Amino acid sequence: MSKEIIKIQDLKREFTMGTETVHALKGISFSIQEGEFVTIMGSSGSGKSTMLNILGCLDQPTSGLYEIDGVSVKDLNRNQLATIRNEKIGFIFQSYNLLARTSAIENVELPLLYNSKITSEERRERAIKALEMVGLGERLHHTPSQLSGGQQQRVAIARSLVNNPVMILADEATGNLDTRTSYEIMSLFQELNRKGITITFVTHEPDIATFSSRTVVLKDGEIMQDYKNHNIQSAAEELAKLPKQDH
Ligand SMILES: Nc1ncnc2c1ncn2[C@@H]1O[C@H](COP(=O)(O)OP(=O)(O)OP(=O)(O)O)[C@@H](O)[C@H]1O
Ligand SMILES: [Mg+2]
Repeated sequence: MSKEIIKIQDLKREFTMGTETVHALKGISFSIQEGEFVTIMGSSGSGKSTMLNILGCLDQPTSGLYEIDGVSVKDLNRNQLATIRNEKIGFIFQSYNLLARTSAIENVELPLLYNSKITSEERRERAIKALEMVGLGERLHHTPSQLSGGQQQRVAIARSLVNNPVMILADEATGNLDTRTSYEIMSLFQELNRKGITITFVTHEPDIATFSSRTVVLKDGEIMQDYKNHNIQSAAEELAKLPKQDH
């Protein structure tokens, strides 16, 4: 039996702007099982980021239920929320959100700094392991400006992995990358998913969604479609089909 990692019911998020109220999410219900790879699609303004921010405990819903790993988020205080965010969830953003002038290894160590039980040696070891997992074992001391976009995103992925999260949330993680680099990143996500990590991935691009096991389509703050993908493409295979590049 698979386990429910995320359960939301009649989730609403309203933003008040002066006298106007924006209904960004209009009562959404669904659940995500452990091990799923879900893409969230939908046009600009449909509520994708709003939803992901709530799933990641970066934002609270106006009303409705949200349970993560069986725990109701509404009942948690700020400290407990921060702990859940840090220990259960890995976040990846379109713009990488790395610290400039800070080496790859130090960026990846950051989430571990909040954990006083981890020694500095262990921190370093785990950061190196995470960077090796994303293929950056040879770039440990490069700063973001010394890395390509795809490499910077891989540092961000390593940072999201260093706490062994149960779930990765990614908002347009390939949005700034060319096709080849996007496929490389998707191939990495597929590998992580095969190792059992649940992934929820926001994208605009339909070809990126073919690499996931399920697609949820939002429109104007409501779920329009929610379907299993029975023909999951391999990003590694698609990558191999792309025309060779000269270096
Ligand atoms: N902090 C906020 N204050 C006010 N309105 C907001 C806020 N955040 C989002 N909204 C509104 O909520 C709606 C959904 O926005 P959201 O950012 O979730 O869309 P999105 O699907 O991620 O779009 P995109 O593809 O452009 O990133 C939009 O109408 C947006 O203007
Ligand atoms: Mg968005």
